[in-house]
Amino acid sequence: MERLKNKVAVVTGGARGIGKATAELFCREGASVIIWDLLEEGEETAAAIRSQGFICEFQKISTTDVEGIEKAVAGIIQKYEKIDILVNNAGITRDKTLLKMEQNEWQQVIDVNLTGVFNCTKAVAPFMVERQYGRILCASSINGVHGAFGQTNYAATKAGLIAMCRTWAKELGKYNITANAVAPGFIITDMTDAIPDDLKKGAIAQIPARRAGQPVDIANAYLFLASEEASFISGQVLGVNGGIAL
Ligand SMILES: NC(=O)c1ccc[n+]([C@@H]2O[C@H](COP(=O)([O-])OP(=O)(O)OC[C@H]3O[C@@H](n4cnc5c(N)ncnc54)[C@H](O)[C@@H]3O)[C@@H](O)[C@H]2O)c1
Repeated sequence: MERLKNKVAVVTGGARGIGKATAELFCREGASVIIWDLLEEGEETAAAIRSQGFICEFQKISTTDVEGIEKAVAGIIQKYEKIDILVNNAGITRDKTLLKMEQNEWQQVIDVNLTGVFNCTKAVAPFMVERQYGRILCASSINGVHGAFGQTNYAATKAGLIAMCRTWAKELGKYNITANAVAPGFIITDMTDAIPDDLKKGAIAQIPARRAGQPVDIANAYLFLASEEASFISGQVLGVNGGIAL
């Protein structure tokens, strides 16, 4: 199926993990994908996708670099004429309990996970408005909904994203633009690789599905929310967590 035929998508943080799986799946579904990431690894990811006959390119950009983002958006519009889908997937953790968290650890996470999403959406949205079409997708987290030990900064940003999506749903709905968040549970990626094995086992034991999620589980949720079938869904948070949030 080509559920994203002729669509142009930007996936932030698409060099690896959930973003990479999303870029791959979107391309298989007919989209042209531009990956924005800090990691050079993004070029390998894009090249591997291209080698399967799809359109995918990597641009080394930080979601914190407003000027770089604006330039990149202008270049994409010139080349592809539009951006239909923005997946605000880039995110970082700097975990510490409140009593130990330093100001810079708070700020770094706010800068990437919250301001980065604002920066990218602010740059892309006017072009969606112009064409009266858009799908804005954001990577929230189960921890943004429930809070999490050691994640004051991260949980705050992942909750903040939900409020931003709901706001954009209200502001941009009349332009045929939807804005939704996906809230993953425990997904196996480099981000969760740092968690000690015994804690991982404990976390998986609490998931009703009795397994950790894979990046493609989240990519599938983004695909649905980016598809025509989801055109009347906006301002929502889709939990993808094997049932753990129940
Ligand atoms: N893995 C999980 O269990 C899980 C759970 C809930 C939410 N999430 C969220 O999903 C998203 C993807 O997570 P993941 O597990 O694939 O993480 P990951 O660390 O494997 O990948 C994140 C990607 O974002 C990129 N990135 C970081 N800062 C950036 C910046 N300033 N500009 C551009 N790119 C930047 C990284 O280089 C990396 O390629 C994140 O927002 C994360 O918070 C993940």
